[in-house]
Amino acid sequence: MKVTEEILLYGAGGHARVVAECLHCQERRIVAVFDDNPEVKRFGKMDVHHQYQRDLFAEHAILIGVGDNRLRRQLASRVYHPFADAARHRSAVISCRAEVGKGSMVMHQSTIQTGAFLGQHVIVNTGAIVDHDCELEDFVHVGPGAVLCGNVSVGEGTLIGAGATVAPGVRIGFWAKIGAGAVVVRDIPDGVVVTGVPGRVIRKLETL
Ligand SMILES: CC(C)(COP(=O)(O)OP(=O)(O)OC[C@H]1O[C@@H](n2cnc3c(N)ncnc32)[C@H](O)[C@@H]1OP(=O)(O)O)[C@@H](O)C(=O)NCCC(=O)NCCS
Repeated sequence: MKVTEEILLYGAGGHARVVAECLHCQERRIVAVFDDNPEVKRFGKMDVHHQYQRDLFAEHAILIGVGDNRLRRQLASRVYHPFADAARHRSAVISCRAEVGKGSMVMHQSTIQTGAFLGQHVIVNTGAIVDHDCELEDFVHVGPGAVLCGNVSVGEGTLIGAGATVAPGVRIGFWAKIGAGAVVVRDIPDGVVVTGVPGRVIRKLETL
């Protein structure tokens, strides 16, 4: 395999393994893996480092391979390595007029349409669709198979659950959770949990 970039990965769980596949097909090679959980000892054939080491491969860029939005933000604020360009699976379709921020991940068979803007550390998971002119702030996670129609905006740290659909032009606040399979047809405030068809707020989250 021709390798064009060596990269560091924070996280050695299931999500990180999907990220690793994306990196592999971009001909980027993982040279060190960190995970805070001492029980996770191996990542494929590699040993896992349990203490983040700022001096290890100090010049290399890092990706935070963690699906949980709050944990990803926490880790991103802790690391000293520069953030890597987005990991993109070769089966993902990304418009040349879309922008994808550093540290983000665009998984297998997802689509990012023209004019879409994705901040940093955003996840567009397997088979999700982010249609034209959507704006996703940092640390958003669009779950597998979710659909954001055109002109949707999603605030920082919000989770769009698997298979959820968000109607055109809807604005969703920050650090909210949209339940799996919900259909969101109205704007959603910050820090709430939404479920159902049509999507309704079922509770507020304690910490924003
Ligand atoms: C909506 C969600 C965030 C709620 O999680 P939670 O706050 O822990 O809520 P609970 O599991 O305690 O459920 C609260 C109630 O909502 C219901 N509920 C939970 N998720 C639901 C969903 N997606 N659709 C409809 N109802 C749902 C539960 O059955 C429960 O109902 P009850 O009070 O009548 O028993 C979560 O269930 C969910 O859908 N997360 C999305 C996960 C996902 O897709 N991640 C993608 C990344 S891989």
